[in-house]
Amino acid sequence: MSTSDSYIPTPTELVEVIDETPTIKTLVLAPAEPMSFKAGQFIQLTLPGVGEGPFTPSSSPSHPERISITILRTGTVTERLHECRPGQVLGLRGPFGKGYPIDKLAGKEVLVVGGGVGLAPLRALILTLLDDLDPIKRMSIRYGARGMEELLFRREYDQWASHAKVDMQVTIDNPQPGWQGPTGVVTTLLKDLDMTLPECTAFVCGPGIMLQFTTQALEAEGLTAEQIYLSMNRRMSCGMGLCGRCNIGKYYLCKDGPDMNYALIKDAPNVF
Ligand SMILES: Cc1cc2nc3c(=O)[nH]c(=O)nc-3n(C[C@H](O)[C@H](O)[C@H](O)COP(=O)(O)OP(=O)(O)OC[C@H]3O[C@@H](n4cnc5c(N)ncnc54)[C@H](O)[C@@H]3O)c2cc1C
Ligand code: FES
Repeated sequence: MSTSDSYIPTPTELVEVIDETPTIKTLVLAPAEPMSFKAGQFIQLTLPGVGEGPFTPSSSPSHPERISITILRTGTVTERLHECRPGQVLGLRGPFGKGYPIDKLAGKEVLVVGGGVGLAPLRALILTLLDDLDPIKRMSIRYGARGMEELLFRREYDQWASHAKVDMQVTIDNPQPGWQGPTGVVTTLLKDLDMTLPECTAFVCGPGIMLQFTTQALEAEGLTAEQIYLSMNRRMSCGMGLCGRCNIGKYYLCKDGPDMNYALIKDAPNVF
């Protein structure tokens, strides 16, 4: 794909809208041509006449003919995307970024830590690893949301955790009637990690403050910066390393990320 082609969105029909939580919807898209992507790569989604925004598909890369984008309503574009109905034609550009380093995970214990809508990009990683669990030793998923009603993909947790190599713990910030699980922010699930730390690789996605406290918690548990990958979903524009909107230190998050090894960025002034 040439740079000028990368600016032209592929027409894409919205075929299904899934209400996930009061503030999050999943849009299932059927691109005019299947768009191959790797878990962790992102796309620019255009609503004609309104604008575009970067989103990381939450669906498995094994099905490029149906791409799910899970969207938190937060401002102008996401508000209007939430109002879209099946049949609406959207535009897709991409994929951009490197994607998760799945080829480096053989023999590893994989720790997936999500906060709020951050579980959306991580779902593509989880589904990719579930497709073939043989290479990894184990996958531990830790997820936190503000309340029960904000838990994303709740219908899938039992199925994910039904694999012998997978375990999952979920917390909500405060006690709620009907909730029997742990309470507190997601870092409370990271104390005394029952993992073989030297073999562990952690992937973290969530709001900026969650990335910061989760990184601190993982370092306190004994993980090194090299073992931690952070989804740096900052504001982006071109998606191709051309506009300089997304740099952190010497890296462009759109090209070198958005999932960055913490060791590469930890000394940059604007990391959190
Ligand atoms: C690589 C990448 C992947 C992303 N993947 C997803 C995803 O899978 N699902 C999802 O819901 N969102 C994702 N985002 C964030 C999403 O792009 C923004 O929330 C969206 O573009 C906001 O557009 P808006 O016009 O609705 O909000 P605006 O009106 O532009 O902003 C409204 C509010 O949202 C905040 N905001 C805007 N952009 C971001 C951002 N990038 N990160 C954090 N806060 C932001 C603003 O500071 C403001 O407070 C991703 C961002 C990046 C860079
Ligand atoms: S978004 Fe333009 S350089 Fe990264």
